Amino acid sequence: MQIKSANFVVSNSDVKKCPNEPIPEYAFIGRSNVGKSSLINMLTDRKHLAKTSGRPGKTQLINHFRINEQWFLVDLPGYGYAKVSKKVKSTFQKFITQYFSQREQLVSAFVLIDIRHDPQKIDMEFMEWLGENQIPFSIIFTKADKLKPKAIERHVDNYINTLLEGVWEEAPNYFVTSSTSGMGKDEILNYIEGINNQIK
Ligand code: GTP
Ligand code: MG
Repeated sequence: MQIKSANFVVSNSDVKKCPNEPIPEYAFIGRSNVGKSSLINMLTDRKHLAKTSGRPGKTQLINHFRINEQWFLVDLPGYGYAKVSKKVKSTFQKFITQYFSQREQLVSAFVLIDIRHDPQKIDMEFMEWLGENQIPFSIIFTKADKLKPKAIERHVDNYINTLLEGVWEEAPNYFVTSSTSGMGKDEILNYIEGINNQIK
């Protein structure tokens, strides 16, 4: 799929105020600093569409971007960032949970995982919560440019095996990406295009 247009629509902390066009929507979620906003910029070929930062906790609201006038990409705040106050953290958690449980346009979530790290409890629990709430998701491994090909394979295998040893009977769909090299871009955009065509 070619990205012909990518426009910021609105930011807010209330799922009820999200745009109401009935078009397919895909949301990016994961720990702070995992690379959600960078991935959105990489996928859309726009360097500054979503705001990124080396410091965790940059994205603090639900951000809607309209792509090709046909579907939405959503950038969300990260979970599990220890340095924001408990109050801010629980506010995030509340509106993220409300977003995922109430947003009717949501077709699929993408759960981003830093490919360098061992499986973390918070990500596992979040994926289980998505499963319990019947919210479809794929995994996106980020920052693959930081590992050599053999190590990429080893880390992905280890991650998927950990999921299969846990509550998952089937391995989720996954993508391996790098926002600096563009790795995984075509795969993700083709995947989204495939779903959009099925919905039409
Ligand atoms: P929050 O909004 O704080 O939740 O973070 P985020 O998940 O949106 O992360 P963001 O895209 O802001 O990126 C965090 C840091 O990781 C930035 O310094 C990025 O430049 C860096 N980064 C993101 N993706 C990649 C990648 O694929 N490769 C490398 N090498 N660095 C990346
Ligand atoms: Mg962000």
